[in-house]
This record gives sequence, structure tokens and C-alpha cells, in this order.
Amino acid sequence: MPAIVLVGAQWGDEGKGKATDLMGRDVDVVVKFNGGNNAGHTVVIEQPDGTSETYALHLLPSGILTPGVTAVIGNGVVIDLGVLFEEIDGLQARGVDTSNLRISANAHVIAPYNRTIDKVMERFLGKRKIGTTGRGIGPTYADKMNRIGIRVQDLFDEGILRQKVEAALEVKNQMLAKIYNTRAVEADAVVAELLSYVDRLRPMVCDTAELLERRLEAGENVLLEAGQATLLDVDHGTYPFVTSSSATAGGACTGSGIPPTKVSRVIAILKAYTTRVGEGPFPTELDDEDGQRLRDVGHEYGTTTGRPRRCGWLDAVVGRYATRINGVTDFVITKLDVLTGFEQLPVCVAYEVEGVRHDSMPVSQSDFHHAVPVYEMLPGWSEDISGCRRFEDLPENAQRYVLRVEELIGARVSAIGVGPGRAQIIERHPLLDA
Ligand code: GDP
Ligand code: IMO
Ligand code: MG
Repeated sequence: MPAIVLVGAQWGDEGKGKATDLMGRDVDVVVKFNGGNNAGHTVVIEQPDGTSETYALHLLPSGILTPGVTAVIGNGVVIDLGVLFEEIDGLQARGVDTSNLRISANAHVIAPYNRTIDKVMERFLGKRKIGTTGRGIGPTYADKMNRIGIRVQDLFDEGILRQKVEAALEVKNQMLAKIYNTRAVEADAVVAELLSYVDRLRPMVCDTAELLERRLEAGENVLLEAGQATLLDVDHGTYPFVTSSSATAGGACTGSGIPPTKVSRVIAILKAYTTRVGEGPFPTELDDEDGQRLRDVGHEYGTTTGRPRRCGWLDAVVGRYATRINGVTDFVITKLDVLTGFEQLPVCVAYEVEGVRHDSMPVSQSDFHHAVPVYEMLPGWSEDISGCRRFEDLPENAQRYVLRVEELIGARVSAIGVGPGRAQIIERHPLLDA
């Protein structure tokens, strides 16, 4: 014991990868429990010679970068095997040891036809598209729920694999040809592609839920790292503009097999402003110079698709919602440094919908679409804060910003990011129990 859950509080890209990497030195196991290679985590590690190494991870848990940490891909993840081995090879070429990677036999595999279906469905949705990453995530989770998915363990029995691929294609080929007007997919080609990974995959695969139980019993620290974020969660997010997995704290248990009674803390990562990639409502979005400045200074371009991220002010209603849904015990506020130089910092404290004030997330989707932010203005600061390492080192107005946000979101802020580097962090309270 204990298990610690780390989630995104907004629409993703809050800096979960950096936070996981930071905690890597104090944990024994890091588990990815949801999503797939729709995620993109950039981790910057300063080297002793003053240079820095940047890693972009999609499918592997960010803990893979810390020597000695066991990295686990849990049952809740969907795996594109081509991407998996590309990522492993890329890390190995840079001297990162990936031998401690373990993969759940129950995780689902993204079959090539699901990447195709993701893209054609978006095309067919036209104006109503989700803006997915096009990686086949949604169709693969749909297959899982429809009980026609391909699991990692199916790859170890060619007969079963073939049966399952043929069964899935029976319906899909009709759909591809008759509705989407695209070419049918050959089962043989799919089976051959999936089997080509088997030899490399086999030694990594095990019952990861059992492994995690043993490691917790041995008193080790296990960190469960979410992909995506609270408002992209399929149940609790801004449906239908969400991803297809459970990205909130509850998903950490179903996606890993760790029981809720073993989770002692939930850490949420909150960016000091807000970003969103893809379509969907975003009340504090800025379509002006300030939005462009956040994008430029914060380098808000997607790690996965390179798309410019939509940017806006901090939304404390969203932060409060994340606290409630995830049972957040600690927040990490990231990218506070990006706010340096703004004279005033608006923070959304409530919404107004057709003259009615909402202090929490409106129940109805159309109300959220029409929500107009009610802003509280906080004074900015102009000093460079990237070198600050203690809370007291921050300019008074930066301290004030953090303290007011803490009050609004209703859980303590335990760490503050002041730059992309591993060391650029202010720790107010330890993120792990001693
Ligand atoms: P994730 O998907 O939640 O892991 O986040 P991403 O990696 O997609 O996006 C976060 C980006 O912000 C990355 O490029 C990080 O290197 C960077 N980052 C993280 N924390 C900080 C911070 O405190 N300040 C600055 N300036 N950049 C940060
Ligand atoms: P990390 O882990 C930001 C968004 C997509 C799209 C929606 C559905 O880096 O925070 P999908 O391909 O998942 O079916 O797309 O979800 N999305 C993300 N946005 N960060 C992510 O991951 C995301 N993963 C998916 O842009 O709007
Ligand atoms: Mg990201």
C-alpha cells in the first residue's frame, strides 16, 4: 500500500506526464489504466551538463522514464501494437531501459480496421464531428462493449484470433462497403499483422491485476496515471465531445484491477489556464490576442496530432467539478509561469445561462453550451517565476492567484509547476505519504 491515482482535471494536456515523471523517483510501479495512443505526454528531463532531453510518450506510462520503476499497461487500455513497439524502439535507441514493462492479457488491441472506421465516421459526422485523434480509440472501445473486441491474450491462439477477427469483420465489412463506401478488409491481412507482434509481445504479458496486488501487499507505492481528463471522461465529461474511456479516478480501479479500498490519494493536475483539443463546448475559450499569447507562450500545440490547442482562462467551476467527481485530495497546478506578464487574470467562478447563475456544472448539455463565464479579476505579476522553488519565492500576486484558486476548487494545492523541466516545481505538501 498505497495506490495513488493521478488524473487530469480539465480537457487533457494539463502536464500529467511531467507530474508522473516527477513522482517516479518515489514510486515503484506506474500504471496506465485507460485510453491509448490518443494521449500525448511531453516530459523534459534536465541533464547534469545543463542540456535537457525531451520525450514524447503516447502509449507507454510516463513512469517508464524512471530507472527501476515497473511500468504497467492495464486492462483498461487499448493498444496499437505498431505504436507500442515503435515507442519502445525509440526509447531503447535513446538508452532508456524498457525491460520493466508489463502488459495486461485483458487489454484490448486496436485492430487496423478500427483506425479506418474512426476516420470514416468522423468524415460522415461532418459538422457534428468529435475531432478525434483518428487513432481508432472509439471504435475499439465500442467493440469491447459489444463483445467483439480482440484482446492481447487472443493473439496467443491463432485459431481463436482468426475466429474473432472474422466475426468482427462480418458486420464491419458490410458497414464499410455499404454505408461508408470504402473497401472491405481482408481477415487474413489483419491476422497476419497482429501475429507479427506476438514473439516480442509474449514476455511482457501477464495478469497485471495480480501483479499489482502482490506489489501493494509488499508495501510498494503504485501510481495509477490517467490518460485524457475529467471532462473527456465518457461518463462524466462533456458527452459526446469526449473520449471513449473512463479517465476519472473510478476508472483507475476498473482499468487496473486495483480495488477502491486500496486507493489512498487522488492527485489532480490542473493547468493554470484551460486548453482543449477537438470539438465541444469550452466556456472560457479566448478567440483573441490573449488566447494566442497563451498558445504561444505555453506551446499549446498537440503532442499527438500537432493541432493548435484551443486556449482560455482558468475555469474554477470545472476545477470544483473535478474535485467532486474524482475525490481529489491534492492538486498540482501546472504552467503558472505561462501567466507571467498578464496585467489581470480573469478566473471563471460561475456561469450565467439565460440570466440564471450556475455555481456548478449545469445538468443539461445545452445549458453548458450556452454558459457565459462570470469572471473574478485577479491581479497579475511580471517577474520571471521559472526559477522559484519555494512558495514564498513567488511574487505576491502569483501566491494570491494560487491561494484564491485553491479556495475556489476546494482541495489543497500541493505543488506548482513553473516550467517544463523536471526540477521546475514548487512543492508545498508532499505528494506521497512518508
Ligand atoms: P499531459 O498530456 O497531461 O501529460 O500533458 P502534455 O505533455 O500533453 O502537455 C503539457 C505540456 O506542458 C508539455 O509540453 C510539458 O512539457 C509542459 N509543462 C508541464 N508542466 C509545465 C509547467 O509547469 N510550465 C511550463 N511552461 N510547461 C509545463
Ligand atoms: P492527454 O492524455 C487532449 C480528445 C480529442 C477529441 C476527443 C476524442 O494527452 O491529455 P479520441 O481520439 O480519444 O476518440 O478523441 O478527445 N483527446 C485529447 N485531448 N489530450 C488528450 O490526451 C486527448 N485524448 C483525446 O482531441 O476531442
Ligand atoms: Mg497530452
